[in-house]
Amino acid sequence: MRDFDEFTITRAVIDRFADTPDPRLRQVMTSLVRHLHDFVRDVDLSFAEWQQAIAFLTRTGQMCDAHRQEFILLSDTLGVSMLVDAINHRMPEGATETTVLGPFYVKEAPELPNGADIAGLLEGTPLLVTGSVASAGGGMLAGATVDVWHADEDGAYDVQQLDALGGLAGRARFRTDAEGRFHFWTIMPAWYPIPDDGPVGDMLKAAARHPNRPAHVHFMIAAEGHETLITHVFAADSPWLDSDAVFGVKNSLIAEFAAHPAGPAPDGRRMERPFRHLAYDFGLKPVRTRD
Ligand code: BEZ
Ligand code: FE
Repeated sequence: MRDFDEFTITRAVIDRFADTPDPRLRQVMTSLVRHLHDFVRDVDLSFAEWQQAIAFLTRTGQMCDAHRQEFILLSDTLGVSMLVDAINHRMPEGATETTVLGPFYVKEAPELPNGADIAGLLEGTPLLVTGSVASAGGGMLAGATVDVWHADEDGAYDVQQLDALGGLAGRARFRTDAEGRFHFWTIMPAWYPIPDDGPVGDMLKAAARHPNRPAHVHFMIAAEGHETLITHVFAADSPWLDSDAVFGVKNSLIAEFAAHPAGPAPDGRRMERPFRHLAYDFGLKPVRTRD
């Protein structure tokens, strides 16, 4: 086969994948080629635009290192991360909804006892977080691990300012107690822009899109026999809830971070200054077992 034109080329490329031994890979590549070719025809892509696209993807790859994943940021800002999330997390009644992981999760966060203050050198309005972890449609889960991480009052994560902070802050791992409960102190996080000094930022600027995410606390909750939950809880009074740069906001994940005057806190601590309190109960989806 030779002499392909702008239409026959698509069938020829798809046929070239016909002997792919893995049927799933064959299905994915066939569909990818079909949609990619349709896209090129649809926008009548010029040669200069094709070169620009190659340069953009090259810069996206070159921007990646151990601390920066520009391809995930691209996936996030194109809504692909949340689309994959939606397809893969059809949740039963009682299970907390999921949202993007984001680039600031650290596996080695310190495990701390309930009630600990994780703010470290971060300054801001004190925030008490209390919560529980249950099996969706079942009982409370004791011994579940609860990883938390969040930005500071300027919208920066610890990993973006490690030198100034002298280590991790605003993140830790807790374990639920015998009643499935956990609590900790930290500071109120602010909304922030996703890293926009690379090609993804250039794309956002070219499209007159802002890079901002509403204020939130990240949670990753794991318990035996359950799917690990990756989610955030968003502050109900934050800007950008309706235009999150990565499309991660769901109504069920928005909660009041209630403002309290100085005085006794719900965990018995006496606060010298005003503080905020987030109370949120999580439900985990049981892993399906064969019967
Ligand atoms: C985050 O919430 O940490 C995040 C998510 C997606 C892209 C950038 C940051
Ligand atoms: Fe975040």
